[in-house]
Amino acid sequence: MKKQYIFPHRHILGMEQFSREDIAHILTTAESFKEISSRSIKKVPVLRGRTIVNLFFEPSTRTRLSFEVAAKRMSADTFNINASTSSTTKGETLIDTARNISAMHPDVIVLRHSSSGASQLLSQHVHAAVINAGDGAHQHPSQSLLDLMTVQECKDRLDGLKIAIIGDITHSRVARSNIQGFKTMGSNVYVFGPSTLIPMHIEELGAVRARTFQEALEGADVVMALRIQRERLHDPLLPSLREYAQRFGLSSDPLGWAKEDAIIMHPGPVNRGVEMSPEIADSSRSVILNQVSNGVAVRMALLYLVGNA
Ligand code: CP
Repeated sequence: MKKQYIFPHRHILGMEQFSREDIAHILTTAESFKEISSRSIKKVPVLRGRTIVNLFFEPSTRTRLSFEVAAKRMSADTFNINASTSSTTKGETLIDTARNISAMHPDVIVLRHSSSGASQLLSQHVHAAVINAGDGAHQHPSQSLLDLMTVQECKDRLDGLKIAIIGDITHSRVARSNIQGFKTMGSNVYVFGPSTLIPMHIEELGAVRARTFQEALEGADVVMALRIQRERLHDPLLPSLREYAQRFGLSSDPLGWAKEDAIIMHPGPVNRGVEMSPEIADSSRSVILNQVSNGVAVRMALLYLVGNA
């Protein structure tokens, strides 16, 4: 008899913690929840009585809102704390904030923070399950899972694909999570961008460092542009944004190298005319809004899996 799979993770901290079976299970769970969002009454009682705190120390539109929407669709009670309104502005440390929140007995804390490792640290000081909603340039696992779900929907598989990730790889938690996620599922990830924004040892993560735009895009099934993270670019590591758009921006010319049915992705927020032309962002190949819709389903799955553990 086949052994029953039991989701083995208390916290969601990064994509390196997941096996292929874990990712497949999360995506299957997300698929089963996705249909709830198209009902007229978008609510199921699976997390009734659970308390979820969204603790965001960095700006967010998609991630914060979709975690809140996901929690509410599963009947959980949700509370949002933003950096500007929290007592960290009065000098309280993250650990003290976490301990105080923990004293109110939440079941899940969703954390976004500018420091790599913040979610890991939090998980060691609270009773609640912790979900990393982006920690510095380190990891953004729920984004990677929604990206995997979107690719699986469009390509019917997650193995044997060529994934091209273009842009600022050094500062991108999305790139780091996606390199791990797509590698685990058996696809090849090529990265390309300004040489100052590609980490020295990117091959150690399992990505191929493309030397040219053409090498990155040739035969690609998926082309993902990354946001230029001006808030993390403290040194002048970039040419002007105009030059960046000319050399690294997605437009119909470079996309001619990719497969005809290649899909275009972006985690958002998009700097139109910089990372990609408005025509590409709005084209039929763009799945950017599918990514956002799948974000709700994936976050429902993650809250369900750790909220019921
Ligand atoms: N993709 C993403 O993390 O977007 P937000 O910063 O709006 O949450």
